[in-house]
Amino acid sequence: HDVDGQPSFPALQASVGFALLAFVGVVWLVPKVSEAFIQKGLKGRDLLKRGGRISGPWIPESLGLPCASWYLALMMLFIPFPFSHLFKSQSPSGPESFPQRELTLYLSSLLSLLTATLLGFIDDLFDIRWRHKLPIPIVAAVPTLLVYYSVGGVTSVVLPKGFSGWLDTLSLARWLDGNVVDLGPIYYLYLILLPTFTTNSINILAGINGVEVLQALIIALSVLINDLLFLPIWSPALLDLLGFENPQNGRVLDWAIGEVVDRHLMSCYFMLPLVGVCTGFLWHNWYPAKAFPGDTFCYFTGMAFSAVAIQGHFSKTLILFFLPQIFNFILSCPQLFGLVECPRHRLPSYDEKTNLLNPSLVVFESPPPLKTTIVLEILSFLRLVKLEYHQSPNPKSSTDKKYIKSSTNLTIINFLLVHFGPMREDRLCMLVGFVQVIGSCIAFTIRYKVGSWFYGG
Ligand code: UD1
Ligand code: MG
Repeated sequence: HDVDGQPSFPALQASVGFALLAFVGVVWLVPKVSEAFIQKGLKGRDLLKRGGRISGPWIPESLGLPCASWYLALMMLFIPFPFSHLFKSQSPSGPESFPQRELTLYLSSLLSLLTATLLGFIDDLFDIRWRHKLPIPIVAAVPTLLVYYSVGGVTSVVLPKGFSGWLDTLSLARWLDGNVVDLGPIYYLYLILLPTFTTNSINILAGINGVEVLQALIIALSVLINDLLFLPIWSPALLDLLGFENPQNGRVLDWAIGEVVDRHLMSCYFMLPLVGVCTGFLWHNWYPAKAFPGDTFCYFTGMAFSAVAIQGHFSKTLILFFLPQIFNFILSCPQLFGLVECPRHRLPSYDEKTNLLNPSLVVFESPPPLKTTIVLEILSFLRLVKLEYHQSPNPKSSTDKKYIKSSTNLTIINFLLVHFGPMREDRLCMLVGFVQVIGSCIAFTIRYKVGSWFYGG
């Protein structure tokens, strides 16, 4: 607290400074190291440009590595700041009074981030098969999870009103404490899978300039806004306006508790510089891209989100900020799990004449198996893909029936192209960004409006 008794957050102000440093550093660093990356063979063609596939210029790949390195360096230099009040306090601050717990949380998050960066870079170097890369983030998340456990991590969830009464009648109430249910190991299973999801789901919503970085930026901003809501810095009038002050139930958010504030502060310290890094890198990755993020960037940002959400106890809120990624993942499942062929690249197809992007197709040489046909027909009925049929030249012959000749690739990017028509690459990226923003608005509504109808009171 400062002299007027108003709460003050000097480390948060320092963190804003670090975010600026992160931005400036990445804007400066990326072009400096680009040539070296190309020379080491870390390069790719920009597939969606005129002549890109064959004769286009080489674009440096895996530039997530300098981004992650710079971010980690800043986060290490930042470590003393949240504890700075201890250094200047007059009272004897021995090892006992040092907040070891917070330091451990901070360090384990850094360790998970470091591991994720290393593994992402290995993936960039050796192109690990995607089946094999799935479990990788689990390893990287172990330090974070163990610390979560050691500080008495919560494994219970609150059930909607009425649901507990329903369980009661099924005599399952012994699992319940009020309307709180303890999921125990199942909750840990969810937490183990969370980093696998956040890292890979960003990596597969990819293929057009800027899209990986833009989605990471919007998710980081959403997490940051959510964190700021928990800090006691807002005037009651503003909270009233936003509908966060509920006359019947009091505040919807439990601010007053110091521990909750601390957790969200910690998340801010990680998210502010991440926003800086993403904005700085978008500078170079925006259409027409001068640098590609590589899997390093996707792993590193994805892990940052999981780490703060696990440590900050808001993993369920985090998953709400991934609505477009959840949609993209579910839509991708038939291709990821081999029901429909999955080409190396599922990015849209480029039309040289118009300079626009069209949905890309997966083409069937022979009639696809029945289960593939059923899945594609369902997706087509839901208007998620567009199918084309092979018409037999002789409709009377029973051996030569109509069958699916091609389907659009099962990604949200192709889905948007099917519905909004051909588009230029940068406009398509903006559209994906817009969808992500809408997703975050829905997430906030679910978390703070719908959620309080169900759980509150
Ligand atoms: C994921 C996607 C793949 C998509 C690829 C593009 C799945 C299962 N995998 O694979 O469908 O094609 O990302 O990143 O959905 N590239 C561009 N323009 C861009 C970004 C990338 O042309 O804006 C090309 C470049 O040639 C670059 C390559 O994609 O070298 C990078 O692909 P990589 O990130 O290694 O692909 P994956 O993550 O394995
Ligand atoms: Mg990738």
